[in-house]
Amino acid sequence: MIFVFPNAGAIAAHVSDILIEKISSNPEVVLGLATGGTMEPVYSSFIQKAIKQQLDVSRLTSFNLDEYLGLHPSHHQSYSWYMHHHLFQHLPFNLKNCHVPSGIVDDPNNYCNSYSDAIQKAGGIELQLLGVGSNGHIGFNEPGTAFDSTCHVVELSPQTRIDNSRFFESGELVPDRALTMGMQDIMQAREIILIATGRQKAAAMALFVDNGVTTDVPFTILKKHNNAKILLDEEAAMLLSSHQYQYA
Ligand code: GLP
Repeated sequence: MIFVFPNAGAIAAHVSDILIEKISSNPEVVLGLATGGTMEPVYSSFIQKAIKQQLDVSRLTSFNLDEYLGLHPSHHQSYSWYMHHHLFQHLPFNLKNCHVPSGIVDDPNNYCNSYSDAIQKAGGIELQLLGVGSNGHIGFNEPGTAFDSTCHVVELSPQTRIDNSRFFESGELVPDRALTMGMQDIMQAREIILIATGRQKAAAMALFVDNGVTTDVPFTILKKHNNAKILLDEEAAMLLSSHQYQYA
C-alpha cells in the first residue's frame, strides 16, 4: 500500500491525473479534499490540466476535512481561504456544493453532526485525499481519537500547533481548537490517497510501519481500508526499508 515517488512533483502529477480521471468518468463525483502544504502542488497540477482539457468541474461535490475553530472564512490562515486561494477560484466550481467546515458557527457540536450527515446524504465520498501530521494525525484527528468518531470538535495537540505555526505570524496565533471529519467519516470513503512529502514526515512513516493499527498513530487505521494508498517522496520514505514499499 506504500508507493515511493522520486519527488513531490511526481506525486502531484500522478494524483492530479487520478482526479481528472475520476471527474471525467463521473462529473457528479463526491471528493474529500485536504489542505496543508502537501496538497498545494497537487491542486496546482490539477488546475493546469483541468484548464487544458476543459474539464467540467461544475457538477462535482466536495467535502473538506477540517477547519480551525474561531477563524472567519476570510482569514488567510483559514482552510476556507486556503481552498479558495489554491483551488476554487481557478475553475468554475459550483461553490454551493464545495463544502469546507465553518469555524464560526454558534453550536459547533450540532454543526459537526450535520456535516457528517451531509456527507452521507451526498452518497458518501468516492475519493478522499489526505495529508498527515508529524504525529500521524489525519484531518485534525489527533493521537487517541476513537476510530468510530464522526465530525467533532478537537483540542489541537501542542505538536500540531507548533507544526502549523509556520503558516501564522506567531505560534500564539494558532487556534487551539478545530473541527474535523471523524475517523469513521474518513474510513467510509471508497478510496483513500494519503500523501506525505519531505523529511519532516519520515518519523511518522516509521511509526506507521512499526506499529499495528493503533489510535496512538491515527493514520495506521488505513491498514484496515481495502482501497487506501500512501504516496511518499524519497525524503518521507528515508527511514523505511525498501521491502516496505514499492517504487513507483
Ligand atoms: C494539518 C491539517 C491536516 C494536514 C496536516 C499536514 O494539521 N489539519 O489535514 O494533512 O496538517 O499538513 P502539511 O501538508 O502542511 O504538512
